[in-house]
Amino acid sequence: MKEVTILGKDFELFIDADTIQDRIKRLAIVLNEDLKGKDPIFIAILNGSFMFAADLMKYVTVPSEITFVRISSYKGMNSTKNMKEVMGLKEDIKDRTVVIIEDIVDTGYTIEGLINQFETQGPKEIKVATLLFKPKALVVGTKPDYVAIEIPNDFIVGYGLDYDGFGRNLQDIYKVKI
Ligand code: IMP
Ligand code: MG
Repeated sequence: MKEVTILGKDFELFIDADTIQDRIKRLAIVLNEDLKGKDPIFIAILNGSFMFAADLMKYVTVPSEITFVRISSYKGMNSTKNMKEVMGLKEDIKDRTVVIIEDIVDTGYTIEGLINQFETQGPKEIKVATLLFKPKALVVGTKPDYVAIEIPNDFIVGYGLDYDGFGRNLQDIYKVKI
């Protein structure tokens, strides 16, 4: 079993690179069907979704735009429950079909906050496409519209996801060893 150590913590291979690519291709097939004629704007949430967004967009064939935003916690707060500020959206999303690209939906607070902030700009509709979803961790909101892979409640790293900033570069996804 392949293992990595990041900042002193041990992780074991959980989802290999081929499986990730396969799931992303399958997700793109569904998106290409659903988004036909909608000229969507994809909004990828940095940093975590950079690899997923790059690979997903290679298989998206409908005419579309992609842009990137960051979210920041307000200073002095670090809980996922706290309001996050969206930074960097220059595009006008009024009356547009928006597809948020996320790395993972865990408790759901982040995605809920994002949807609420984008809603204020009057889009036609907002869909959520996430690489990973932890259904048992969901506290607010509902299941994302598009999920590539459902996973249990383990802490994971790799393929864009980090452990204290490290591990995003890994091609595979690893889970923490207990
Ligand atoms: P939320 O709990 O759904 O609001 O997720 C908040 C954020 O926590 C996600 O966007 C990820 O950046 C991060 N996160 C959640 N679960 C994991 C994990 O297992 N590994 C790395 N980051 C995670
Ligand atoms: Mg994230």
